[in-house]
Amino acid sequence: MKKTKLFIKTKSKIYPIYFGSNLLNKTGKIIESQLPGVKKICIITDNKLPKHLLKKTITSLKKYEITLFKLPAQEKTKSLKIANKIIEKLLKNNFNRSDCIIAFGGGIFGDLSAFVSSLTKRGLKFVNIPTTLLAQVDASIGGKTGINTKQGKNLIGTFYQPDFILSDVSTLKSLPQRELISGYGEILKHSLIYDKKFFLWLSKNGKKILYKKNKNYLVNAIFKSCIIKSKIVSKDEKEKDLRMILNFGHTFAHGFEGAKNFSKKLNHGEAVLLGMIIASELSKQKKLLSEKDLLSIKKHYYNLNLLFNIKKIFKKGDIKKIINFMKRDKKNTSDKINLILLKKIGKTTNPKQVSLRDLEIRNFLNSYYN
Ligand SMILES: NC(=O)c1ccc[n+]([C@@H]2O[C@H](COP(=O)([O-])OP(=O)(O)OC[C@H]3O[C@@H](n4cnc5c(N)ncnc54)[C@H](O)[C@@H]3O)[C@@H](O)[C@H]2O)c1
Repeated sequence: MKKTKLFIKTKSKIYPIYFGSNLLNKTGKIIESQLPGVKKICIITDNKLPKHLLKKTITSLKKYEITLFKLPAQEKTKSLKIANKIIEKLLKNNFNRSDCIIAFGGGIFGDLSAFVSSLTKRGLKFVNIPTTLLAQVDASIGGKTGINTKQGKNLIGTFYQPDFILSDVSTLKSLPQRELISGYGEILKHSLIYDKKFFLWLSKNGKKILYKKNKNYLVNAIFKSCIIKSKIVSKDEKEKDLRMILNFGHTFAHGFEGAKNFSKKLNHGEAVLLGMIIASELSKQKKLLSEKDLLSIKKHYYNLNLLFNIKKIFKKGDIKKIINFMKRDKKNTSDKINLILLKKIGKTTNPKQVSLRDLEIRNFLNSYYN
């Protein structure tokens, strides 16, 4: 199968992801055919991206009036203050609903740009060009927008689907290894929650993806990952039920990131990797997951040298802070903490099936330090 296009079908919109290599110089052509009414384009991008990437994109957009925002890739950028500044500029430049915003960067830029697109004049056209592996396999798909506050990450947001996504594997050439691993965490998650065959394929080929950046294997993994996320999102766009299984490992991850004050000491994907192995071990302790499946997952972590040791990152004294952040997770509906656990590789517990008291989770985390 030639992996060049995939349609994401949600209730609010059906839109394509274009996959391939060296696609940036086609951005203008695709906009011309998909969004013929566009006259003005606002690009919201990462000020640290290699210059040639932006240059290629802008060159292909010659016929449009361009407004450019270059911002730092840090969580602080996902703020109401910055969103407001961009919206004011768009209004001043007379952007209307047929004009377009392009997110060009990692998940930070996708989340911010989608938020701004959804609010300005009740919705501008929106194109996402993700340049990290994490954004290509996860953040760009599904329509969640996100703004951070002092109370926590992504606590403000809307659902807003893009008009299309351009997923260009060649943008990953310059991506640091740590960011590649971070994206791999989400690929692995998709296999663990939905597709054992994909997990077995990753177990065989993970090294080629992570340590050789083999383009064909990368495109395969990205494509497969997008299919899984899109299937889930298509069935439950607004996260009422099924979509919650995508939170496997993420409730712990949220606690870990919070305990590190959402700093670069532990990035999102690293926190997810650690969260998934801990959630797998908890699944085994709860007699949901077999020893055999847990061992296969652990073997995968060892073979690929993925982060699995909580003691490397946190002291026992940090656990209270981790739990406090887990309790604040917006997916909790009671005092208890909702968790998605594994029944077997490829199958999770049902959403809302497992909710644990904070004391139980605290004891479980403490047990790593005994
Ligand atoms: N909306 C969603 O469904 C969703 C899902 C997962 C994560 N997220 C959000 O995504 C964000 C994390 O995403 P991310 O890891 O992509 O973040 P990011 O935008 O911070 O990028 C990570 C790092 O990679 C660098 N980078 C980006 N592209 C590069 C390239 N091509 N070459 C070299 N360096 C490059 C950036 O400068 C940055 O240092 C978080 O804010 C998280 O909340 C959203």
